[in-house]
Amino acid sequence: MIDHALNKPNNQATMELGRRSLIHDPIEGDLSKIMLVRAKGCSVWDDHGREYLDFTSQAWSNNLGANDPRVVKAAIAQLHEITHVRPNFNSIPLLELAAKLREISPGDLNRFGFCLHGSLAAEMAIKLAFKNRFGRQSLIVLQDGYHGRSLTTLAASWPHPNSPFLAIQPRFTRVPHPDPYRPRKGLTVEADSQLCLQLLEDMINKGVDGGVAAIMLEPILGNGGHVVLPKSFLTGVREICNRYDIVLIWDEIQSGFGRTGRMFAADLYGVVPDIMTFGKGIGGGFPLAGIMASERLTGFSAGEDGLTFGSFPVALAASLATIDAIIGDKLCQNAHDMGAYATERLLKMAERRKLIGDVRGPGLFCSVELVKDRVTKEPTAAAASEVYRRAAQKGVLLGESRYAGLGNLIKIKPPLDVTRAQMKTALDVFDEVLGEIEASGSY
Ligand SMILES: Cc1ncc(COP(=O)(O)O)c(C=O)c1O
Repeated sequence: MIDHALNKPNNQATMELGRRSLIHDPIEGDLSKIMLVRAKGCSVWDDHGREYLDFTSQAWSNNLGANDPRVVKAAIAQLHEITHVRPNFNSIPLLELAAKLREISPGDLNRFGFCLHGSLAAEMAIKLAFKNRFGRQSLIVLQDGYHGRSLTTLAASWPHPNSPFLAIQPRFTRVPHPDPYRPRKGLTVEADSQLCLQLLEDMINKGVDGGVAAIMLEPILGNGGHVVLPKSFLTGVREICNRYDIVLIWDEIQSGFGRTGRMFAADLYGVVPDIMTFGKGIGGGFPLAGIMASERLTGFSAGEDGLTFGSFPVALAASLATIDAIIGDKLCQNAHDMGAYATERLLKMAERRKLIGDVRGPGLFCSVELVKDRVTKEPTAAAASEVYRRAAQKGVLLGESRYAGLGNLIKIKPPLDVTRAQMKTALDVFDEVLGEIEASGSY
């Protein structure tokens, strides 16, 4: 229970017992002790009443600032009507949302399926692709891709050499991808992109058994190191999929709903996949994910898909209000403008702060790679952890890359309605902690 007057848990002993009863290890570091009790817009508060600017948007999900009154109102209104509708029935927000998504979906991606988590949306996309290429045996993914933590999506993500789950996971084929900050030795970014397209085609022709049903990729790799794939690679993969009749799946769970400064990365790159997954930002803080699929694909038959709570009316209603707010408040434009402001300041900061190796966008899909040496580009994960810890102490929650890539990214991904003043405060804190860390001389 929470004591609402104080915004504090009223029983510390229960909190402690609860903490010890959780099956997941706490996340390492000081921040594991932060308990969040309230959120509003770009801010969150802990149980000591301390306010933080949340530049993680809680796993880049609160594209619209937290607890937006329009979203809360829509969710409460739905709560009073009906909260649970199993997939055999329709609900008003289900049909309204499907109709609304047609207005903003790229190309002919006009058929929609819903669930509550991005990982399950990725599984839905994989199932639909294999259904439409019956008999083919392989799924190709990128070597630093990330698609979730269900058994199937863990297998479709970057390699986990010590995973205890390998015995019960499917096996997918991973291919290399270009990395504009670290192109392969002696190659330009463009030559690297063309080489990776050749390697992909070789893999399709000679590297897999049983034919390729689908290629799944994030247009901008998120958790796997924030790699901004060159447009030539994305258009090249589209062209290869057309030639080999392979289903192209784009995972826009992180890049969708305005984060890049456009509604979808597909709009930014002018490429339309056959299936796109979405999640995170669509729900306005409520759990919602799903797929949009080309009208050319055959949909699911009874029994092939459909989860008990998969079309949760409260989240669907919240999502309708969220999309209206993203459009009405012109948040794609704000993401673009605030991303441009952040990038300009970070590049200026890089003239003084040698730890900054690279500054990446687009929009508020923004991050900084920290390096020991700009020539060798040797990453420093230790400095990133220290930035993360010190910034939190100063009231700014920045994102850190802990699991994949090189562990040296600081992610700057606030809600899309972040103000210039909030962005300035967060960047001032980032600058200050980089200065402290550089002065300590230990990274
Ligand atoms: C690109 C991408 N795909 C899939 C997922 C998995 O989503 P969820 O954690 O909702 O299952 C994530 C989550 O971080 C993601 O970033």
